[in-house]
Amino acid sequence: MASNGFLLAALFLSCFLGFSLGNIHLSSLPRTLEVTASPKPGQVLKAGVDKIRVTWVLNGTVKAGSDSSYKNIKAKLCYAPVSQVDRAWRKTEDDLKKDKTCQFDIVEKPYNPANKTAQSFEWTVERDVPTGTFFVRAYVFNSAGQEVAYGQTTDDKKGTNLFQIESITGRHVSLDIASVCFSAFSVVSLFGFFFIDKRKAKKAAAAAEASGH
Ligand SMILES: *[C@@H]1O[C@H](CO)[C@@H](O)[C@H](O)[C@H]1NC(C)=O
Ligand SMILES: *[C@@H]1O[C@H](CO)[C@@H](O)[C@H](O)[C@H]1NC(C)=O
Repeated sequence: MASNGFLLAALFLSCFLGFSLGNIHLSSLPRTLEVTASPKPGQVLKAGVDKIRVTWVLNGTVKAGSDSSYKNIKAKLCYAPVSQVDRAWRKTEDDLKKDKTCQFDIVEKPYNPANKTAQSFEWTVERDVPTGTFFVRAYVFNSAGQEVAYGQTTDDKKGTNLFQIESITGRHVSLDIASVCFSAFSVVSLFGFFFIDKRKAKKAAAAAEASGH
């Protein structure tokens, strides 16, 4: 709960501090990376258990040398439109500073323009990923830390090659309920013992008094 409050505070802060001057927009980025991920379309993965292998390589049709400014790539797990409906906190914005489509970092790695071999990374879906429909997107950054290109596992409309993740929050909730019940039980039993003790003490005192006289 405390971390939720912190998240909210951070969100508010970032809203106030976020100036939109010269922000980079997704629509302005060339889609030069071919990105693939291991889940099959429609596959259901379990958060905290199942793995995703993400692979990226420069599209072979791209002009040679166009990746010379590429320094880093960052792969992220992103919400498909069906999991964004009525959820402003997952909303897609063309302005990448405001975009909330891709909230889960998979990996950040240096990009070596000299190496034309496909690169890949295996990631265990983190436990905090909620149930939903997802795809993977990789952003390319230059040495100034600005997005200069991207690639993703789905089409531009984000309708193909989507996969599902099933969260384990169900288990979290029942664990939380169990712990709340347990603490309530301990408080009650603590008071219970306290009163029993007091009564015992009273009885003992009364008995001592009775035998004394
Ligand atoms: C590579 O780029 C070409 C031209 O933009 C595009 O038609 C093709 O679909 C891309 N390949 C992949 C696998 O993304
Ligand atoms: C190129 O990338 C592959 C795959 O990650 C790696 O095995 C290989 O060592 C790299 N080669 C160079 C020259 O960095």
